[in-house]
Amino acid sequence: MTVGNSRALAHPNIAFIKYWGNKDPQLRIPANGSISMNLAGLHTQTQVTFEATLPSDHVVINDRRVTGPAYERVNALLDRVRKISGRDEFARVISQNNFPTAAGIASSASAFAALSLAATAAAGLELDQADLSRLARTGSGSACRSVPGGYVEWQPGDSHESSYAFSIAAPEHWALTDCIAVVSRTHKPVGSSAGHDLADTSPFQASRVSDAPRRLEICRQAIRQKDFEALAKIVELDSNLMHAVMMTSSPALLYWQPATLEIIHAVQAWRKSGKPVCYTIDAGPNVHVLCPSEFAEEIKEELNHIKGVEMILSAEPGGPAGLLEP
Ligand code: DP6
Repeated sequence: MTVGNSRALAHPNIAFIKYWGNKDPQLRIPANGSISMNLAGLHTQTQVTFEATLPSDHVVINDRRVTGPAYERVNALLDRVRKISGRDEFARVISQNNFPTAAGIASSASAFAALSLAATAAAGLELDQADLSRLARTGSGSACRSVPGGYVEWQPGDSHESSYAFSIAAPEHWALTDCIAVVSRTHKPVGSSAGHDLADTSPFQASRVSDAPRRLEICRQAIRQKDFEALAKIVELDSNLMHAVMMTSSPALLYWQPATLEIIHAVQAWRKSGKPVCYTIDAGPNVHVLCPSEFAEEIKEELNHIKGVEMILSAEPGGPAGLLEP
């Protein structure tokens, strides 16, 4: 018997100022604040149905039944929703991404944002955006930034209540394109959750974190003023700082492939020659190449010529997580 059924869509996001390391790993209270842009065109769609006859939660992601740690994560979020709503039925979850999973494009962000919205709606709850962001954060930190639309800031906070994300500019505010150069579609050897736990083993993490408010302010200003040159500098610095922490953790995390570095050098050369373009890299080998949208075709064409680039995805600023017809 079906007792509640909802479907939601959310976009992944690319962080301009990165989340890396937690003050509280259980609640995912981050070591520092972060800023990102939602990625239109890329999405996760998730359907949640609470069914009185199910013996346990049933989770299908990209047409595959999920068990193990991925299942536990979804089950933990559904437990939270059951607790808030007072429901006790198990749920059937069917989730589909339209982009490659676990290749440095944060699928957990769109996945947990869509799951949080679909599950709460199916349970009969109507959370406001901040509460939905808090809930999504407990599933995957960066998911809290996929709840609001456009350009988004995650206020780190120091408690469940104070740690959530909000929009700092609408998608229409600034037409930027993220040209994602996919150099590998394989699963990453160490996922973000395990990576966050290693951040404090790097001697560089403390200075990366203590300098974060300064970088956040520069990034906010650059977005507000649509100053691409300022954005480019702070985005590349922040990505390099995070990768410096990753590379100097124990054990060391080295996500880059040879093609990753090829693209970094190419982007630097293009910017030197006057093109407004910059790079940022998450916990994987793919390179997110950002530019004002009017340069996107030209940049994608250039990226296509780089050896090792398997495919290019591109996305402009995306909207908030939203409900669909079930
Ligand atoms: C490198 O949000 O994927 O993409 O909370 O463990 O799911 P979990 O981690 P996750 O971490 C994202 C790390 C990053 C940087 C960022 O998106 O800010």
